[in-house]
Amino acid sequence: MADSAELRVGDQTINLPIIEGSEGERGLDISKLRSQTGLITLDPGYGNTGSCQSAITFIDGEKGILRYRGIPIEQLAEKSTFLEVAYLLIHGKLPTQAELEEYVGSITLHTMLHEDFRSFFGALPKDAHPMAACSAAVGALSTFYPDSLDPSDERQLEISIHRLIAKMPNMAACAYKHSIGQPLIYPRNDLSYAANFMHMMFATPCEHYEVDPVIEKVLDLLLILHADHEQNCSTSTVRLVGSSMVNLFASVSAGINALWGRSHGGANQEVIEMLARIRDEGITTKQFVDRAKAGDDNARLMGFGHRVYKNFDPRMKIIKKACFDVLEKLGVRTKLLEIAVELEEIALKDDYFVERKLYPNVDFYSGVIYNAIGTPANMFTAIFALGRLPGWIAQWSEMHDDPAFKIGRPRQIYTGETMSDYVPIEKR
Ligand code: ACO
Repeated sequence: MADSAELRVGDQTINLPIIEGSEGERGLDISKLRSQTGLITLDPGYGNTGSCQSAITFIDGEKGILRYRGIPIEQLAEKSTFLEVAYLLIHGKLPTQAELEEYVGSITLHTMLHEDFRSFFGALPKDAHPMAACSAAVGALSTFYPDSLDPSDERQLEISIHRLIAKMPNMAACAYKHSIGQPLIYPRNDLSYAANFMHMMFATPCEHYEVDPVIEKVLDLLLILHADHEQNCSTSTVRLVGSSMVNLFASVSAGINALWGRSHGGANQEVIEMLARIRDEGITTKQFVDRAKAGDDNARLMGFGHRVYKNFDPRMKIIKKACFDVLEKLGVRTKLLEIAVELEEIALKDDYFVERKLYPNVDFYSGVIYNAIGTPANMFTAIFALGRLPGWIAQWSEMHDDPAFKIGRPRQIYTGETMSDYVPIEKR
């Protein structure tokens, strides 16, 4: 196959090298395009633009394949744990037993928050969205740990990574506790990562909360499934912000904000609200699907469609199965699941969705599980953020280690006024 492409611009012909990835993906290297031709490329939404070469996550959206460091998501979902997956993503290989124990031990040591975080959360309005609170709290970590902010110092970075992974569940739980007016709960380091989060969410100083192993397992599974997804909106945000050489906490704080949007991670909250609306307003699923087809962005079928997957999202398949299993094990019957299944069936047979290759994505069934295990809807995206954290960190670190690393700075095609003189205010 050709290893370069020819581009003809007027009388000039230039060669553009073709870069091939390990799974056969091919891309034109246009890094010299502007210096050779004066042209830039224009690709709103970056649908055809590769921003980096990466060895972390592979997706084939046409075939519905997702692998972390080469390992299929189905195998990790069945056999791994969230902290092992975090190690895999960040360190590039599965840990040995000793490495895993040391890793989990180190992260567990950092689960407590600085005591001043109590007044930090206390200062937020009660109805603050947990994503806003989490983003602010992660950003605030750089004020508490100014000793470990240098992105180019390996040891400082390692401490920051462990602090961030350890403290994020605590911060998310604090955001929730504050919103319902309950005391913030200290972590319990005898519990697993997922169980500790549920404990901080639902225990109170006067009542012990026994974490159901079914809930602990499914939450760990959901975190694994969300752990990375290559150059999505929030990850690209983390990379772009980090490319200015700002610290990891500031970069991840920005990523949390990007994830919050309803076109991205915020869709999981929107899906459950959509299902509840269909249930409560007594409209049929068919009527709702017809409304979603009308082209109004505010009535999209939430949890459907994906920039990369033009086939089933492999994470959705695992989550859908887990959803049925968990609801059965917990003895929960919910109308919301029936509505979701009906919506999916109707949409998958509908020409509008078929022609546009719109399939249910990771967010379609996850909310039904979160709902069944007792988490309020406004916490769903914060749990997504807990899961995505290792991916953000791995991608941020990979970017800094890349020999081609430079500050991210896209260009534009200017379409505004051409040169015009300043008009004094009395003459306008
Ligand atoms: N409901 C109805 N129509 C849709 C939907 C949907 N959920 N998604 C896409 N379409 C339609 C668009 O209207 C468009 O139709 P047109 O060609 O007639 O104009 C066509 O499908 C292509 O859609 P785009 O918006 O151009 O696709 P894009 O790749 O830019 O967007 C996105 C992907 C944002 C995920 C979109 O499908 C969407 O808004 N889905 C609902 C929100 C959602 O579930 N987001 C979570 C994604 S997964 C994640 O980020 C974790």
